Amino acid sequence: MKRRPLIIDTDPGVDDAIAILLALASPELDLLGICAVAGNVPLAATQDNARRICELAGRPDIPVYAGCPRPMLREQIFGKYSGVSGLGGTLLPPPSMPLMHGHAVDFLLDTLDEAAQGRREKVTICAIGPLTDLGVVFSMRPSVVRGIERLVIMGGAFSALGNRTPSAEYNILADPHAARIVFSSGAPITLAPLDMTFRALAKPEWVASLKALKRRVASVAAELITFYDRNDPERYGEVGGPLHDPTTVAWLLRPEFFTGRDVFVDVDCEGHLTLGHTQADWRGKTGCPANAHVLTGIDAPAFFAFLKERLAAYE
Ligand code: BDR
Ligand code: CA
Repeated sequence: MKRRPLIIDTDPGVDDAIAILLALASPELDLLGICAVAGNVPLAATQDNARRICELAGRPDIPVYAGCPRPMLREQIFGKYSGVSGLGGTLLPPPSMPLMHGHAVDFLLDTLDEAAQGRREKVTICAIGPLTDLGVVFSMRPSVVRGIERLVIMGGAFSALGNRTPSAEYNILADPHAARIVFSSGAPITLAPLDMTFRALAKPEWVASLKALKRRVASVAAELITFYDRNDPERYGEVGGPLHDPTTVAWLLRPEFFTGRDVFVDVDCEGHLTLGHTQADWRGKTGCPANAHVLTGIDAPAFFAFLKERLAAYE
């Protein structure tokens, strides 16, 4: 089987952990490395968590690089739902695999440059944290965008209300300037915004069915999701908490589970009340060409059945 080269840029984070586990359980993907960025928790914790997750998956061979410790310009904000550690407790032992010596930005620059020059296959990136690393990469060497096959981003909120301010989603709000650089980079972007992920609700029965598999990885995943639970039927219209980040990996593997549209997306970097708001030009008012494929719908039952099948495959 031809495997798709992938890099995950991430701030684990419970839903990030599930996304990484899904990628590592998927033979279609060749995970070249993980770039940890500050986000849900400080960088020291995100890089540590990324390694804990790789070890849980039995993949201590995956290179994990530490990336940017703070956003480009704005003051730092951390996540609210992943606990102090990022993984909601002490479920996973401290990692024994080493952190790579280089910086995540250098790893991205070198790998994408090789791909841009045709010395390796183009690389897909799942960016599921603040976009700082990629904002720096595209500022330093814009030409590396040619080495990207697809950049799948979890972030943004259009019709949906924000999850951190009334108008902004956390990953974009945490580094709106980096996000703006990324959206104007020319990279082929697929965007998984809250409008879609608010329909990817992990239901208590599904989490219980993961636990019932009685396998280590599935059980840890179930415990993490239980900790992360943001069950709020009044807000989402049904029972369950959204599992944002794994939808990016699922889109690569099962695009037929999703619907979406090509549109022009920009980020508000100035607004006093609307900082980090993403705006999509659904009706072609700006005259700007589409720069992202925005996912608008998900077949949630199919997504959760698939995720469970992949998590069950560990061991
Ligand atoms: C995003 O913010 C983080 O807290 C999650 O990991 C996800 O990437 C959702 O807004
Ligand atoms: Ca995340």
